[in-house]
Amino acid sequence: MIRKMNTKDLDEVVAIATSSTSNPWSRNMFLEEMLNPLAYCFIYRRKGSKQPPIGFICFRNVGDESELLNMGVHPQYRQMGIGKKLMQFYIRFCNEMKIKTLYLEVDSLNQPAIHLYQLSSYQLQGIRKTFYRGKFDALLMVKKI
Ligand SMILES: CC(C)(COP(=O)(O)OP(=O)(O)OC[C@H]1O[C@@H](n2cnc3c(N)ncnc32)[C@H](O)[C@@H]1OP(=O)(O)O)[C@@H](O)C(=O)NCCC(=O)NCCS
Repeated sequence: MIRKMNTKDLDEVVAIATSSTSNPWSRNMFLEEMLNPLAYCFIYRRKGSKQPPIGFICFRNVGDESELLNMGVHPQYRQMGIGKKLMQFYIRFCNEMKIKTLYLEVDSLNQPAIHLYQLSSYQLQGIRKTFYRGKFDALLMVKKI
């Protein structure tokens, strides 16, 4: 199930983020987004009240545009369809808010994420050279809904 992230989720969410990338969001970065009225953070967990988060997604919606800021799935639960469920939830949520254009940036070497976004019908719009840590290119991807 997917529900709004709260501060009690942050230990698990930060652990997932830390195991996902060499440049993870800190606890404070998640907190800032949770407090930002334009931002939305949700977690995925298995059914059952005591189940910890095993995935998360954060995005910002402004006007009729949305930007996917961050998402991750616990390494033990990858390739089980959770990423797809989070993306389907996100796109449905944006649709209900009358969002027209969805943007994201992704490391050009991050094949699992690029594959997931292509499955969600994102198109490549451009490349931001050396966007990540002055070294790695970012793909700018866009989806119209
Ligand atoms: C990207 C990520 C969120 C995908 O989550 P997931 O739960 O594994 O994704 P799903 O199981 O829904 O898989 C979605 C598709 O990607 C494919 N895929 C996922 N991981 C893959 C991998 N390592 N290698 C090849 N294909 C992969 C799946 O096979 C599936 O495609 P299919 O339906 O054509 O078979 C996850 O790999 C992750 O947390 N990565 C680290 C954090 C990150 O990169 N976040 C995104 C950038 S902000």
